[in-house]
Amino acid sequence: RKRIFSGIQPTGNITIGNYFGALKNWVKINEEYESLFCVVDMHSITVRQVPGELRKNTRDLLALYIAVGLDPEKNLIYPQSMVRQHAELAWILSCYTYMGELGRMTQFKEKSSKHEENINAGLFTYPVLMAADILLFQADLVPIGSDQKQHLELTRDVAQRFNGIYGDTFTVPEAYFGSVGARIKSLQDPLKKMSKSDENPNASISLLDDPKVVMNKIKRAVTDSDSSVSYSEEKPGVKNLVDIYCCATGETVEQAMGRFEGQGYGNLKKLAGEALVAELEPIQARFREISKDKAYLDRIMQDNAERASALGERTLKKVKKKVGFVVF
Ligand code: TYM
Repeated sequence: RKRIFSGIQPTGNITIGNYFGALKNWVKINEEYESLFCVVDMHSITVRQVPGELRKNTRDLLALYIAVGLDPEKNLIYPQSMVRQHAELAWILSCYTYMGELGRMTQFKEKSSKHEENINAGLFTYPVLMAADILLFQADLVPIGSDQKQHLELTRDVAQRFNGIYGDTFTVPEAYFGSVGARIKSLQDPLKKMSKSDENPNASISLLDDPKVVMNKIKRAVTDSDSSVSYSEEKPGVKNLVDIYCCATGETVEQAMGRFEGQGYGNLKKLAGEALVAELEPIQARFREISKDKAYLDRIMQDNAERASALGERTLKKVKKKVGFVVF
């Protein structure tokens, strides 16, 4: 069976961008594959974290994975830091990745300009750890939003380079993008992506926001000085609301435009907000149930991390042999 791997950082509030760009697609396709869904806490410490918060966010994100519909008995769901093979493979791969390649990563350039006080080596080698995540499990497919496309291309390059030197070792993974959700924009600046780390609370909607908060944020979403709905790059705010509506209802853009084209913005906002609330409410209810049960989550984490570790060890051993380490 083919394998998928993906992950989300447990940093801040998980947004509907993460949901429509990644999580919802995971739920859609996980049953056809052998799947690993990781909470990538090691990536999160490239930016300073409050330890207690990071730990809580990690558990919460794990609970959220389950709440959106990923069955932890059928998928491997675990925190990255509990499986040491991620870090071991990352070191080896960092010796097969060039400084020049990493310096071209747009996410590094953005993050290092935002965190000038802490441009650490981990922030720079972040994509190597991501490559290790994916290659460790010989994943065929990686469901992600379009902002991670460049990282996936680097992963493919590193895999091919290693295979070129040592013979077939890694599966070269493909990206999987959903149809509309690959890039949900900020509600306040629709030229930027919606991001967990946005300081403006009205710019993003958290998966755990109250229905009232959701409706309000959609109501306040920036549109433009025109007054009727059309779907184009010239109207990024309106286009984003149509995308959100489509993601939440499953309607195609054509169907949605049949409904909204030429109307004022009020109805689009109202229906988009209602559709979102209808989608999020059952997730939130399940999340509350699951996160109450600490022992259950502990068991899932330990059990799944152990299995992921055994699986990853197979690749790691092979790699260690190939590069010339002593392996028993
Ligand atoms: P992260 O935590 O920033 O985001 C998690 C997932 O959500 C997607 N995403 C979006 N999709 C649509 N619209 C948006 N506004 C939006 N914002 C975020 C991201 O594309 C991603 O799929 N480096 C990764 C985490 C990672 C990973 C991996 C992913 C580490 N190792 C291995 C896949 C495979 C990251 O920072 O995602």
